Amino acid sequence: MTAEIEARTGLDDDVLRHLVHAFYARIRQDPVLGPIFAARIYDWPPHLERMTTFWSSVALMTGRYHGAPVPKHAGLPIDRTHFDRWLALFRATADEVCTPVGAAHVAERAERIARSLHLAVQDARTTGVPNLT
Ligand code: HEM
Repeated sequence: MTAEIEARTGLDDDVLRHLVHAFYARIRQDPVLGPIFAARIYDWPPHLERMTTFWSSVALMTGRYHGAPVPKHAGLPIDRTHFDRWLALFRATADEVCTPVGAAHVAERAERIARSLHLAVQDARTTGVPNLT
């Protein structure tokens, strides 16, 4: 499965690591999103490694990521505008770093996950309890 996706999309762990590093370099310079990350992430290398593992699982189906993103976002000061901005930066970076098929592959998955994270953040705000499912 992973080999088939790699052959079709041009993605592999090295490309995804490059994507993650280039993306968060942009995020950190962004006047809106940068400060939200800066207030919470003091040690970037482990975050970048975790995000590379996450993208390996999501894009290549390697099953390497075992975290839980929803509770990490539930309390953040973010709404639709932040997710739209995050996605715009992600798409722009993917277009630079990946093949066109690879960029479409990761962007589609990022949009799907952003939608469910956004719902979870809204849900946590309404109920006061993060939706952990
Ligand atoms: C408004 C946009 C977003 C902001 C401000 C944001 C912010 C953050 C922050 C600050 C962390 C670190 C949390 C911590 O360690 O305490 C984090 C972790 C993470 N984020 Fe986001 N995020 C956003 C959108 C997204 C999207 C769209 C995805 C997926 C496509 C995503 C995936 C993740 C993952 C996988 C982690 C690591 C969770 C873990 O510890 O295993 N984030 N994010």
